[in-house]
Amino acid sequence: MSDCINIALPKGRLGEKVYRLFRDAGYECPSIEEENRKLIFENAEKGVRYFWVKPSDVAIYVERGAADIGVAGKDILLEYAPDVYELADLGLGKCRMCVAAKKDFRDNCERTLRVATKFPQIAGRYYASLSRDIDIIHLNGSIEIAPILGLSDVIVDIVETGKTLLENDLEPKETIVPISARLIANKVSYKFKHRQITQLCQDTQNRCQENR
Ligand code: PRP
Repeated sequence: MSDCINIALPKGRLGEKVYRLFRDAGYECPSIEEENRKLIFENAEKGVRYFWVKPSDVAIYVERGAADIGVAGKDILLEYAPDVYELADLGLGKCRMCVAAKKDFRDNCERTLRVATKFPQIAGRYYASLSRDIDIIHLNGSIEIAPILGLSDVIVDIVETGKTLLENDLEPKETIVPISARLIANKVSYKFKHRQITQLCQDTQNRCQENR
């Protein structure tokens, strides 16, 4: 069992796409597709053990070695800078990190800009690069409400389809960075399970290319 590669998958829509990619690359684990509340699934024959974890926790499992590899959004890697190897861009879960605000918002550089976000590090670095004074308001979700209620002037958040902004009368003002899902590896596992991990990385990348 210790020879299995332990894989942390982000629970939710992205994770399901990622699992299908791994499955189609030859690392299937049929029990994961059965409807149940289990969180750990193993296919010893294929040498894989999958865990479903909260998307923002994948990098923690991998950094601390509870998982050998995992799939995390570039947003999480930029925000938390975990000490892991980033092996590949899987080209899934594509979106962008944006500054958004009410349509009529005009920045007044004489005032500190109030920025609501789940990503204080990304937002802080972005505005520091512009030498703009900001006040970060760190929220955990439903960020779009902040400018509507006057809690912030702008938000820094993920935009995928743009629907959430549109339906809340906000619009993207700037793109900070494009985001997609990355295959990451624990540094020690990468050394001791090198053959299995590089083979899996190669197989999934080949599969990605076939899907493109
Ligand atoms: C994310 C993000 C936006 C939304 C963007 O929220 O924070 O709210 O998705 O997607 P769209 O451009 O396709 O509308 P998430 O669903 O993660 O929920 P949250 O409110 O808890 O952040």
